[in-house]
Amino acid sequence: MKVLLAAIILVLLPLAVLKLCYAISTVFVLRKTKGALFVSTSRAKIKAILEALPLSPETRLADLGCGDGRFLRAAFKRYGVKGVGFEINPWAYFLARLWNFLGRVPVEVRRKNFLQEDLSRYDVVFCYLFPDLLLELAPKLREELRPGAVVVSANFPLPGWEPYLVLHVGDPIYFYRKT
Ligand SMILES: C[S@@+](CC[C@H](N)C(=O)[O-])C[C@H]1O[C@@H](n2cnc3c(N)ncnc32)[C@H](O)[C@@H]1O
Repeated sequence: MKVLLAAIILVLLPLAVLKLCYAISTVFVLRKTKGALFVSTSRAKIKAILEALPLSPETRLADLGCGDGRFLRAAFKRYGVKGVGFEINPWAYFLARLWNFLGRVPVEVRRKNFLQEDLSRYDVVFCYLFPDLLLELAPKLREELRPGAVVVSANFPLPGWEPYLVLHVGDPIYFYRKT
């Protein structure tokens, strides 16, 4: 009985700690993220997005709100592109740095609010954010990105932009080109 109890505690305790880290980090940044939680894009969606994107090692790629950085790592593994991720949730940021380190993937993750970043240098921008935040991001992208730059928005459309492609992998994925 004692062994069973110890085993349960050994399994449940780390899980509880992980959940607590997630909850505290989420509450900490909720106002800034306008409700965008740290929820990762599925592997199937990432695969579909990467197949549809014109990426090369020279592409300047950004993931705005990169979560645990999985999109950037997948892009590096497939195309050799060294993207940059922005993340303000401390738990997500920690995980992104950890997985990059453990996987020896040389993509950069910055603990920074992307709304305070000049985005003009990026050729391809990926995001999976909630509508309230996209409302703020859409005019910023229009103002800063160069003509021809590509924006991919998972699940939610970019207000005021016309997609050139919409993929459906469970949810829609919107592809835009800055004109
Ligand atoms: C739905 S998750 C997407 C994570 C990752 N892009 C993916 O697709 O797997 C959105 C992430 O954006 C982050 N985020 C929201 N607003 C942000 C901001 N202004 N600056 C940096 N990160 C932000 C949140 O903390 C959250 O981790």
